Parts: sequence; structure tokens; C-alpha cells
Amino acid sequence: MRSILDAIEAGRQGDNGLPNAVYTSPEFMHWERDHLFAPGWFAIGFGADVATPGDMRRVDALGQSMLVVRDRSNALRVFHNVCRHRGRRLLDEDCRHAAAIRCPYHAWTYALDGTLRGTPHVGGAGVHEVAGFDKNPYSLFTIRSHVWRDIVFINLDGNAPPFETFIAPVEARLARLWGDGGAESLQPAADGFLEMEVVSNWKLAVENYLEAYHLPVVHPGLNSYSPLANHYAYHDGADYAGQGVTSYRPNFLAGPAVPTLPTWNVDQLHTAEYPALYPNTLLGVQNDHFFVMILLPLACDRTLERVELQFVGEAASATDYRKTRLSILEGWRSVFAEDVSAVEGMQAGRYSPAFDGGVFTPLQDAATRHFHRWFARRVGAATPRQSLRAATAE
Ligand code: FES
Ligand SMILES: [Fe+2]
Repeated sequence: MRSILDAIEAGRQGDNGLPNAVYTSPEFMHWERDHLFAPGWFAIGFGADVATPGDMRRVDALGQSMLVVRDRSNALRVFHNVCRHRGRRLLDEDCRHAAAIRCPYHAWTYALDGTLRGTPHVGGAGVHEVAGFDKNPYSLFTIRSHVWRDIVFINLDGNAPPFETFIAPVEARLARLWGDGGAESLQPAADGFLEMEVVSNWKLAVENYLEAYHLPVVHPGLNSYSPLANHYAYHDGADYAGQGVTSYRPNFLAGPAVPTLPTWNVDQLHTAEYPALYPNTLLGVQNDHFFVMILLPLACDRTLERVELQFVGEAASATDYRKTRLSILEGWRSVFAEDVSAVEGMQAGRYSPAFDGGVFTPLQDAATRHFHRWFARRVGAATPRQSLRAATAE
């Protein structure tokens, strides 16, 4: 690990890109989980995944399994997906409307808030309590979480600054487009989801998202109505960078136009922005819809991309707009599918012993350089983490 960190440090000084091993080493992915992801906030899913009380979803990422639960009071909770008894994974399959969380091994039962409630036969057949064993300390391991715009963010080590501190800069940038409080009317569309698994490290999906340079080659269709010439890059925040376009128009409509955000800045009606919020949340902000892509690292060379679309008010669910919603989703699906060969090809290139991190051109790769510097700073600042156990939920 030391040699990888030394290579990152050398790259930072010499302005090279990150070394191959940060994309290809299984050990590094685990190190990255503990030192890069765990101390900060990152996304693992959507509130809509667990829409009603008793809904539970299993999320596997970074070599660990987590459990997202909607409890009886409609609060969303995130736990480590592991039983306190003998450590069996608790939830194998997603489920809906459950009354409790029951371990499939010895049937210990947890309330939806994580409290251990039942320990059947623990004192012998038919005896469910036993002297010398107190259930109280054995609630599920809680992971600190926060839901923002239906995106479930977590802080694994429980010690990150408040979520509001993390989100404020990118929120301020987006507010310049959608207005103060303007995004409150956005709602996830029930039919607005898609998933893709790519044979690539998660960082290459971020890097690809940060630049428009590849547009004419990889996305000739998109480039015909959203050309490279109308794109601009920015890297004005510590935890995000991205690109924007000044000629956004809804181009793949197959139904009535969906409503636009009423508070959208009238001076920027045709501006859309695509910031990558580090480490793993990609945002797409248009006046008539919002999308989020989260990147779930499954292995050093495999990433699950999950996308949710949100629309303004009733357009999110009204039948009248269904055709439009689906055509917008389809439009993005084809654009994202075009990116797959780019990120998988870069992953393949990372096995070449000749590749040295590459070169950042001054204009087109400025945002990618920003991401690499952020990464180098974060891993350079990392200190060994004490425990995976997180503090209490926010
Ligand atoms: S491991 Fe879960 S009840 Fe025994
Ligand atoms: Fe692309």
C-alpha cells in the first residue's frame, strides 16, 4: 500500500494522473473504503428504494453489505447488514412492508429502528429469555445517514462534519440555476430508474463525467444538439467539479412537455449543469428534470451505476406525462450506454505497465485534474480509522 501512496504523492507533485494500482488493486479498494469513503459523506441509494414503512433494501458496496430501512415513523435508517449474534448477513433479498427484521439463522428479531427485540429459544426450547444475557446492548450497528433530494448519503465512521457543511457549496451552485428553495417541487418518478453494471473502477466513471471533450466522438447524437462548443467546465468547489451547457433544450420528448421549475433563473433558461459531487454522486440539473447517478463500487473493476430521474410536481407521477418521462429516461439510457465503452476501455488501459497516469491537457482535462488532486489530498490526509461502527444516525 505504501508504494501506491508514494506514487499518488509523486503524481500530485509532478501533476501526473493517479497510478494504475488505484484502479486495479482489490486491496486498495478496501483501503480506499476505510480512508477515503468512510471519513466523509457518500451516496448509497435513494429514498424511493424504501418508499413505505417496512420496506428494506440491501446495498452492497466497497466490500460490505448495508441495510436501508424505512421505519414505522417513516424515517429512513441505515444499518450494517449483519446480525449481532453470529454475524450472518441479515437481509438477503429486498422486501416490502415488513414488521421487523428477522435473521434467517436463529431468528433473532430486530425492530425497524434496529433494537433487538426477540431471541427465540435462547434459554432452551420455548424459553426466549435467559439469565446472564441482556438484549439491550445488541441493537444493529447504525450508520449515520442523511437524505438530500431523495439521495441517501452515509458517513461510515460517524465523524464527518455535518451533512449541511458538505452539501452547502454544491447546493449554492445549483441554486443559481433552480433558485432558492426551487428544487422543493422535484419528486422522484416511479418509472424513472435505470441501472447499469460496468467493468470499470468507480473513479473512471467520475472522470468521464467530468469532461465534455469526448462528446463529438462518443456521443455524436448528443453533440448534434448539445455541441462541445456550448459546454463549459468548472471546478470552483472543494468537493465537486463538472461541466455545463448553454444550449439545453428537451430534445427527446415523445409526449407533452413536462413542467419546468417555477423558480428557475430566467437568465439561464437554456443552461444545464452536470456536477460530480465527490466521491460518487453525479448530478444532472435541467429546468424540466433532475437526474442523479450514484456509483456503487462492487469491486476494484466493477461498478453499479444507479440512476433516478426527478420531475416537477405532478409530472413525476401523472399518467399524461408517462410517455415524456420514459422518453427522457430512454434518452439518458442511450447516452450513458455510449459512455460504457469509454470507461471500460480506460479500465482495460490501466493494466498496461507503460501507462503512467497520462497527461492533463490545460483546458479539457482541468476538472479531471481537480478530482485527482482532491483524491490525493484525501488519501494523503487519511489516518487509520478506529472502527467501522458508526455513531448514531443524524
Ligand atoms: S446469527 Fe443471526 S440469529 Fe444467530
Ligand atoms: Fe459521456
